Amino acid sequence: MKSINIKKIDDVSFISIVNNKGLSIVLSTFGASIFQLETIDHLNRLESIVLTPDSLNDFYYSDAYFGKCVGRFSGRINNGVCKIDGKQYVLDKNWNDMHSLHGGKDGISFKNFDYEIKENKEYVDVIFKYLELEDLLPGDVNYKITYRISFLKNEFTIFFNAISNKDTLINLTNHAYFNLSGNIKKTILDHKLKLNCDYYTDLDETLITKEIKPVDKIMDFRRFKKIGKDIFNPQIHDAAYKGYDHCFIRQNKSKNNDVIAILKDPLSKRKLTVKTSYPSIVCYTCNYPANITINGNKINQHQSICLECQYIPNGINMENVNKAIFKANEIYEEYITYQFDN
Ligand code: BGC
Repeated sequence: MKSINIKKIDDVSFISIVNNKGLSIVLSTFGASIFQLETIDHLNRLESIVLTPDSLNDFYYSDAYFGKCVGRFSGRINNGVCKIDGKQYVLDKNWNDMHSLHGGKDGISFKNFDYEIKENKEYVDVIFKYLELEDLLPGDVNYKITYRISFLKNEFTIFFNAISNKDTLINLTNHAYFNLSGNIKKTILDHKLKLNCDYYTDLDETLITKEIKPVDKIMDFRRFKKIGKDIFNPQIHDAAYKGYDHCFIRQNKSKNNDVIAILKDPLSKRKLTVKTSYPSIVCYTCNYPANITINGNKINQHQSICLECQYIPNGINMENVNKAIFKANEIYEEYITYQFDN
């Protein structure tokens, strides 16, 4: 039976939704996040398919951003410096004292959102709201992040809406760590990934997005490929990033095809299809696992994959790419859909 339950711990609300199709999700107001997510496998077993730390403190404050929505910007800003309308802005260098990462130390992942719930026969909307006042970047930004969970299909969509009173940088995503094996039975090295992307962005040794290149053998996921196939190739494994941590740029989105990524686990037969309005996706294969436990076990390298649809990180400091600068009062409107099959 479908159900919606709410639990409050301190000031944080946890909203559990079970659709009657084989999906169970717990959302949290802290970082407008996915706290838990379970789907059925080919034998109808409902199991966890994202990483959820044992400790709430780790979930709230870890720099791994478990299930969090990320903003005002996603990814690294080179040296924490950028320009908007000709003026330079200096951000906090919360990544190795070098770059600004995922909205900086005070990003929306660490904020407790307000919420409301609207339900009808087909779906339930959990609407998270937060007003971020001007700080290191110009403008107050009003966020509305809506999770729409279907009662008819095993899918949900995150709608990202934002508006600022000044021209500013906005690049929002979700940072869930997926592992479709169910309750982390294995790493994701045997998962198969398909990306509708012809190009990717190279990284420098400090993980800053550089130039856009056509996908080469290692980066080519245009046909299903095991994530483990090329991940130990020195080209990426001996580099500072130790696996995939790259932004892939989609082929032109057509009206009927907004699919950017498909992830499959051959054992559980779970399949995740990611659809989006965004032009690109960062695939991060958990190369530097956070020092936390899940069910009492430390997490390992390559134990999961983040599929972060977004604008190109650091695009604001690049030439000839979308800089993700939104005008004052311009409406920011993007979506990511996660569709599950088994
Ligand atoms: C980044 C990684 C980073 C991770 C956790 C990912 O989105 O691309 O480089 O380590 O987030 O913060």
